[in-house]
Amino acid sequence: MADKNDKQKEKETPEEEVLFTSLRASSWDDFHGQKQVKQSLHIAITAAKKRKESIEHILLYGPPGLGKTTLSHLIAKEMNVNIRVTSGPAIERAGDLASILTNLEKGDILFIDEIHRLNKVVEETLYPAMEDYALDIVIGKGPSARTLRLDLPQFTIIGATTRIGLMSAPLRDRFGVVHRLSFYEPKDLEEIIKKAAKKLKVPIDTESILEIAKRARGTPRIALKLLKRARDFVQVKSDGKLVKNLISQALDLLEVDEVGLDSSDTRYLKAIIQKHAGGPVGIETIASTISEDIGTIEEVIEPYLMQIGFLKKTARGRTATPQAFRHLKIDLPKTPKQDRLI
Ligand SMILES: Nc1ncnc2c1ncn2[C@@H]1O[C@H](COP(=O)(O)OP(=O)(O)OP(=O)(O)O)[C@@H](O)[C@H]1O
Ligand SMILES: [Mg+2]
Repeated sequence: MADKNDKQKEKETPEEEVLFTSLRASSWDDFHGQKQVKQSLHIAITAAKKRKESIEHILLYGPPGLGKTTLSHLIAKEMNVNIRVTSGPAIERAGDLASILTNLEKGDILFIDEIHRLNKVVEETLYPAMEDYALDIVIGKGPSARTLRLDLPQFTIIGATTRIGLMSAPLRDRFGVVHRLSFYEPKDLEEIIKKAAKKLKVPIDTESILEIAKRARGTPRIALKLLKRARDFVQVKSDGKLVKNLISQALDLLEVDEVGLDSSDTRYLKAIIQKHAGGPVGIETIASTISEDIGTIEEVIEPYLMQIGFLKKTARGRTATPQAFRHLKIDLPKTPKQDRLI
């Protein structure tokens, strides 16, 4: 599954993690875009501060690389509390959760990444903890077993997920504040790229900033990654300045086209168009046609294709739109399907 790995490359390598941590927005002013989310969080934070209470549990969801982790750290900073970071798969047993929760201090934030991957037992232990700040611990076994209720300090869970559909309703409902992060407008990405280039001390012209923003799939992580790779390119090929006539060459080499599609996106679209007559076709069928994991398709490939109007999801399956045909320079079939024209 080379392509799955390709997609996962969008996550940082250890070297990039260091670089991106240094580029990570460390203040609200550095965090561009997502205006509504920021406003609403700001209100929740200010209200909690006024009441001298911990902030409500927050759930952040949306495609990878849009700033869920970054926002969580900013919230902790703004609330002036500690943030403890863990993830769904890392909490294997109820006991692991108990030991994390009993070590929190009043007001602390527990950030649970990939919260959709919590197992059932752990999830059920979390319910009373979120609702009543209490842990129900079963002591002993069989008829002599009894439940002990342990009080916890007030704390906040911030859950992050790329797959909200996989979360159970009872868990979702326990979050007072729920926000979906959406893809970024090019002008917000431009700001992010400009600031990052400054921090990295890369000379860059306006055209190059626009070009990177255009190809970054509305995603800050990808924008930063493209910037970094383009920087490497100009350091090898020229005097290290990112300028108009070099940026396209650098980005073409990375195989991202002018609307930000990479090889897995094109393979996905071509599978629908060429192997399944443009759709509608079920996701399982596409997944096996291109040997790609369904999770990666739903989480990474499809959201952006839908956002730019290349893909439609209907009850009968996925359909490529005429825009997708045009982009790939493939002729539309003579008798177009109704679904495609809607
Ligand atoms: N609004 C923003 N302004 C500036 N930089 C941003 C913004 N959002 C994200 N970034 C940068 O993009 C990178 C990825 O962000 P982050 O790790 O927070 O995404 P994520 O949503 O948690 O991704 P994943 O779902 O893969 O965990 C980070 O380096 C971060 O600094
Ligand atoms: Mg994250």
